[in-house]
Amino acid sequence: MRTPLLAGNWKMNGSTDLVEAFGRTFAETKLTKEVEVAIFPPFPYLESARRAFDSTPLRLGAQTLNPIHFGAHTGEVSGQMLCEFRVRYALVGHSERRQLYRESDDQVFDRLLAALTVGLTPVLCVGETLEERDAGRTMEVVMRQVGFVMSRLEPEQRTQVVIAYEPVWAIGTGRTATPEQAQGVMAAIRDYQASYSQELAEALRLLYGGSMNADNAAELLAQPDIDGGLVGGASLKVDDFVAICQSAG
Ligand code: PGA
Repeated sequence: MRTPLLAGNWKMNGSTDLVEAFGRTFAETKLTKEVEVAIFPPFPYLESARRAFDSTPLRLGAQTLNPIHFGAHTGEVSGQMLCEFRVRYALVGHSERRQLYRESDDQVFDRLLAALTVGLTPVLCVGETLEERDAGRTMEVVMRQVGFVMSRLEPEQRTQVVIAYEPVWAIGTGRTATPEQAQGVMAAIRDYQASYSQELAEALRLLYGGSMNADNAAELLAQPDIDGGLVGGASLKVDDFVAICQSAG
């Protein structure tokens, strides 16, 4: 059985007050089903989050990392540094990084490899734009993004990767993929993994991202190939995020 993972991607949002609120709320919240929950705050909040989440089930993730460990790279943060803050996960290839910061497939791969090297679990984000979907190119685009990374990894490394399918047109737009649309693409991603091994495909944790909220989470998470969510906007409201976590399992 795959353990559901709910990941709250705060992007460039949040505050120390929000960190404290999550710490307090999750310390008191009983998560009924067995789920893993992680918050991905901006870097400056990692230390306060590490402390505030200490007596909660919340784990920590980072929104990006530099591929190298240290050096003259002004403004960058390495995976080794993240590990000092008990960070477990790192997003790579988020569409905002691909589009706004021009991250190429090669750079996404380098970051993912850096995460694996220091023992972080990479969450590889993939997804098509509206233009690509309308042109009927969804599967081609998503499989290229997945394949670019997976084909360059060793078999053992492939088992460490979580994949988040996030249709770009659904991110931050309030427009969610239907459960059937999401399931269709995610089943294809799992099938792709089966080309390496059936065991790998069955163990792969696949998250849906793109306007997941307290109202639509249960229906999405009920799909056979959706093992969790990468939640942006709704992860900034503690009650909504708790409700999403409670609908998984
Ligand atoms: P959203 O963001 O839930 O606000 O659409 C998801 C994401 O970008 O990870």
